[in-house]
Amino acid sequence: MVQASSPAAAPGLSEADAAALHALDALVQETHLLWDEEWVGFSWRNYTYEHMQRVRGLSRTMGRQEGADPRVIEFASTLHDVTKSYDGEIIVGLDGKRVLDENGFWKNESLLPRRTNRVTDLYARMGLEGSLHNVSGGQVAAALLEESGYPGEFRQRVDQAIREHLMAGSDASLEGRVLYDADTIDANIGLPAFYRNIQISLRGQDRQYERRGESFVDWLQEHLPEYLDGYLKERIPTWIEGKQRDFIPKMTTAAGRRVAQARIDRLSQLNGEMIAELEGLETAVESGRLAVVRYFMENRRNPRLTEQLALLEQRWAGGGPLPGTAELLRVMQSEVAGDD
Ligand SMILES: [Fe+2]
Ligand SMILES: [Fe+2]
Repeated sequence: MVQASSPAAAPGLSEADAAALHALDALVQETHLLWDEEWVGFSWRNYTYEHMQRVRGLSRTMGRQEGADPRVIEFASTLHDVTKSYDGEIIVGLDGKRVLDENGFWKNESLLPRRTNRVTDLYARMGLEGSLHNVSGGQVAAALLEESGYPGEFRQRVDQAIREHLMAGSDASLEGRVLYDADTIDANIGLPAFYRNIQISLRGQDRQYERRGESFVDWLQEHLPEYLDGYLKERIPTWIEGKQRDFIPKMTTAAGRRVAQARIDRLSQLNGEMIAELEGLETAVESGRLAVVRYFMENRRNPRLTEQLALLEQRWAGGGPLPGTAELLRVMQSEVAGDD
């Protein structure tokens, strides 16, 4: 199994910090694998850890631009979703609407792991079941840092930034706002979010077809051009417009606004280029940008984006893809790494 590579430690961190981060990152990766569910809500099993890695890279980039404390950023971003897997399915009321808590967040069922480790032991001992993952995650992070000998003031700053990653109010710390922006961008805006949209959209189709006793995967084999046409010409532009309208105003830092807008502009342009490829579909689905999209659509068993990008690059290592395809892979890698 190819593992997602951990981003190199941020420059300027001490060797002790780098070693502690390395161990915490491994612990976080191990923790998500204690649950066996393939899909929960809008996340598949391999999504959460890769998301955390990308948020770490992007937080580092934007934290530098904003003058945030790089140590708090590194530890908080590495640990920010450490307890996310406890979030089960979103609770739906009798009226069919998602139930909200007092802060306006969707309420989740609590989902317990199949196996245990240091993180789940801490979670149980601290009685965190039922709390939102930003609150429980902040407390578990502080406890892990205490076990590693970090002082109280530093633990408190990491705890606060993790708590703020879901809701950065006007009194939020700079590190919390950077983390909030990076987390929001990764899940909603740009190429990693586009990849997630493919997974969620097609998973929705799988379930609809299953309910009728049919297979969407079989249908897609016969109807790929038709599906791509509707997806790229209608659904993706509407989705991008929604993100522009709903998420750009939510950014809490100048760096967040800049990166979010740049990623929206880049994805809009790319989508236009993919729509143009629909005209020469036969070549495009073999070696164009649409070959990449097709690959993502056809390989959806608990995928890892980093692994799939590496495979696609390998596939065309000896030449072969159209120039736009190589460029798409390059910008995807760059957004995954957290470049702005
Ligand atoms: Fe989160
Ligand atoms: Fe997150």
